[in-house]
Amino acid sequence: MKTLYPVPEVAIGAGRIDQIGADIAALPGAPTRVLLVIDRFLSQAGIADRVRAALAGRNMTLWDELAGEPSAAQIDAVAALSRKERVEAVIGIGGGSALDVAKLVAAILPDPAGVEHYAFCANPLPARPLPAICVPTTAGTGSETTLTAIFANAAGKKAWAWGPELAARKAILDPSLTVSLPAHLTAATGIDALVHAIESCTNANRFEANDQTAHAAIRLVARHLPTAVKDPGNFAAREGMLIASCYAGIAINNCGTAIAHNIAHALGSLGKVHHGRAAGLGLRASLPWSLPARASAFAGVAEAMGGPRDAAALPGLVDRLIRAVGLKITLADELPSLTPERLAAEMALPENEAMRKSSARASTDDDLRELARAVLAAT
Ligand SMILES: [Fe+2]
Repeated sequence: MKTLYPVPEVAIGAGRIDQIGADIAALPGAPTRVLLVIDRFLSQAGIADRVRAALAGRNMTLWDELAGEPSAAQIDAVAALSRKERVEAVIGIGGGSALDVAKLVAAILPDPAGVEHYAFCANPLPARPLPAICVPTTAGTGSETTLTAIFANAAGKKAWAWGPELAARKAILDPSLTVSLPAHLTAATGIDALVHAIESCTNANRFEANDQTAHAAIRLVARHLPTAVKDPGNFAAREGMLIASCYAGIAINNCGTAIAHNIAHALGSLGKVHHGRAAGLGLRASLPWSLPARASAFAGVAEAMGGPRDAAALPGLVDRLIRAVGLKITLADELPSLTPERLAAEMALPENEAMRKSSARASTDDDLRELARAVLAAT
């Protein structure tokens, strides 16, 4: 099935956040009661106060208690609070998790069933979600443009919800909110965006109409990520990365990810490895195996990265970019006793199967062991 999903309106510019009152006023029904979901450090840095000022007297309910991946219990509690406060619109500001909470609360608020009711598409989401405005402050997940949201279920396992009801009504890309992101997180989240874009235009779901968006994201990452890491206050580089991540989000919305994300999710459940870094290491280790299956698609990626139109050039281009932005290649510190067999077993779990199946190349269990070996032996 080939579908180009709708893209929300995207506003771009430094300081754009201060006009969010007008964005809320322009929503259907001109909401007067708003929920703000925001990462704690941004709230403490005065961003919640800026939003309150921009909302010009509208009622604002603040939730800034996110720590790590949101739990189903937290999301249900924020939804219950929002029902009590008669919230009519939701603003999410922060990394992917904050945006996911905002999207999920906006989606589930009309119905008191908890968020787990909708996990893994077990039940359709309520038909009339509240409008959500998403303001990403990392340039990586692309959650502001995807129809997916991730949370931890009651068992502590990663769960996801999906549906058009999870689409943000609007995205605001404000580079002034990303300049304080530390270099290692700028690098890891930026590489995540790169992997989204590359996997979406080379995997088994890939179709031509989506390639333009993915290639644009790849070009933007190649051009802007090294500068954003080395010169964090560079607004042009920060803005370029926000657009890259937004485009990559659009691209995975249409075509999904692949084996590098299978590896990243497996690594993420076995230890504390940043998702973006894990995806980058997964891509780096799996590329030589993937290339022969779709050489022409990978050649297009190499060209978008600034190299020759030749798939064989891609592993070197990706390796150079990962090293240039300072991502550590070895996992020995985080996962000293992890064996390839254990990692391969995790990669083969049903929850990671969709990413395995959509990969450029079909994999046997022996292939998974070889890929796991390549990830863990890399230095
Ligand atoms: Fe990712």
